[in-house]
Amino acid sequence: MADPDPRSRYRAPIGTHDVLPPESDRWVEAVARFAERAARFGYGLVVTPVFEHVEVFQRVGTSTDVVRKEMYELTDRGDRRLALRPEGTAPVVRAYVEHRPTPPWKVWYLAPNFRYERPQKGRYRQHWQLGAEVLGVDDPDVDVEVIALADGFFRDLGLRRFRVLVNSMGMPEDRARYVEVLTRYLLEHADGLADEFRVRAKQSPLRLLDAKNDEWQDVIERAPQITEHLGDVARVHFESVQAGLAALGIAYELAPRLVRGFDYYTSTTFEFASDALDAAQDAIGGGGRYDQLAEEMGGPATPGIGFGIGLERVMIACDEEGALTPPPARLDAFVVDALGDGDATVLVNELREAGLRADRAYGGRSMKAQMKVADRTRARFAVLLAPEEARRRMVKVRDLVGGDEVDVHREQIAGWLRERSS
Ligand code: HAM
Repeated sequence: MADPDPRSRYRAPIGTHDVLPPESDRWVEAVARFAERAARFGYGLVVTPVFEHVEVFQRVGTSTDVVRKEMYELTDRGDRRLALRPEGTAPVVRAYVEHRPTPPWKVWYLAPNFRYERPQKGRYRQHWQLGAEVLGVDDPDVDVEVIALADGFFRDLGLRRFRVLVNSMGMPEDRARYVEVLTRYLLEHADGLADEFRVRAKQSPLRLLDAKNDEWQDVIERAPQITEHLGDVARVHFESVQAGLAALGIAYELAPRLVRGFDYYTSTTFEFASDALDAAQDAIGGGGRYDQLAEEMGGPATPGIGFGIGLERVMIACDEEGALTPPPARLDAFVVDALGDGDATVLVNELREAGLRADRAYGGRSMKAQMKVADRTRARFAVLLAPEEARRRMVKVRDLVGGDEVDVHREQIAGWLRERSS
C-alpha cells in the first residue's frame, strides 16, 4: 500500500525510532554496564548478521506469531529467501553450529530485532535487545548464573520494581503429555465460551494460558499446571534452579502459566516483569533453556540457555523509577578563540589527545557568542585564546562554576586542566 503523503517517507517508519543525545547517553551507559558485567561473568561478545536464511528462524517455531505473522522476509537479488532477525537466539545457535567453538560457549550480544507488531508504548517494529546465551552445559547452576546476570544488571541500573518469574516447560516428552491433558481440560470447559476459545485450545493450548480475555480467565486459572506434569529429570533440574536462586538471595515467583512465545523452550523458562510498565508489555526481559535447538539445526546435541532484555523497555522502566540518570557528559574545557590564528585547532586537539573532554565553537564567532556556547555545554573551564595573553605565551582560564580567572602558561595548560579534571 503506497503512502499517500510523500513527506511521511522522510520520517522514521511506523514502529521505529531514533535515539538522539542526550537520551543516547543513557543507552551508552546501560550497554557499557551490561558489557562490563558480562565480561565479569566470563561472556564474550558475539555479533551475527542482521539477516539470516529464513530457515534459521523457522526453527524458532512455525506456530509462533513472531515467525508466522511478524517476520520481515525478503528475497534478495540472488533469489535467496532471507529474514531480518526477529529474535537473537536462533542466529547465535546457528553460529555455534557453524563454527563449533569449544563448549561451554558463553556469549552476549546487543542487536536490533524486527517484528511486524502493532506499535504502542514499549512495543516496536524494531527493538534492541541485550542478551546472553550459554551453549554446551545442562547444569542447573548455569540457569542460575544467567538469571543472576540479568537480575544484577537491572539492579545495577537502579531498577527495583520488577519481579523474577520462573517456570519449567519440562522435557519434550513431559510437555507432549501435558499438552494432551491441557487440551482435554480446555475443550471440556469450552461450553459457553466464544468459538475462538475452542479453536485456540486445539491449535495452541499452551499459548491460550497467556490469553488476556476476561471471560476465559476462570477456566485458564483452574487449568492443570505443567509443573505438576514434569518427569523426574525436569523436576530435579527445576528444584536445583530454585535452590540456586534462593542461595543467591534472588527472590523469584513460580509462574506455572508463564508461556514464552517460542517453540524451542525446554525445561527452565523465566521472565522479568516490571511493575513500572503497562501490564500488556511489562516484560523487560525473558529467556529459558533450548536444549534441542542446536541439534535441530544440524549440530551435535548441545544444551543451551539464555535471555534477551528489551533496551527500550528498560529505558521506560528507568524513567518511571527515576533510575539511570547520569549527569550529561560534561566537558573539561571549552576553548574560546579570539585569535583566529589556528592555535584553537591545535590546542583543542592537544587537550583531547591528553585525555581531556574538550570542545570549541566554529566559524570565527564573537567572543560573547562563544562564551554563551561554553556556558550551554556546561564545561568546567573556558580557555580563552586572546591577543594580550598570547603575547606573553599565556592563556586565560575561566572557572565556569566558580567564576575565578587565572592565566596559565600555554605550554602547561593541558597538564593544568588534567590535574583538575574529574
Ligand atoms: P522475547 O521475550 O521475545 O525473547 O524478547 C526478549 C525481550 O525483548 C522482551 O522481554 C522485551 O523486553 C523485549 N521485546 C520483545 N519484543 C519487543 C518489541 N516488539 N518491542 C520492544 N521490546 C520488545 C526472545 O527474543 C528470546 N530470544 C530470548 C531468549 C534468549 N531466550 C533464550 N535466549
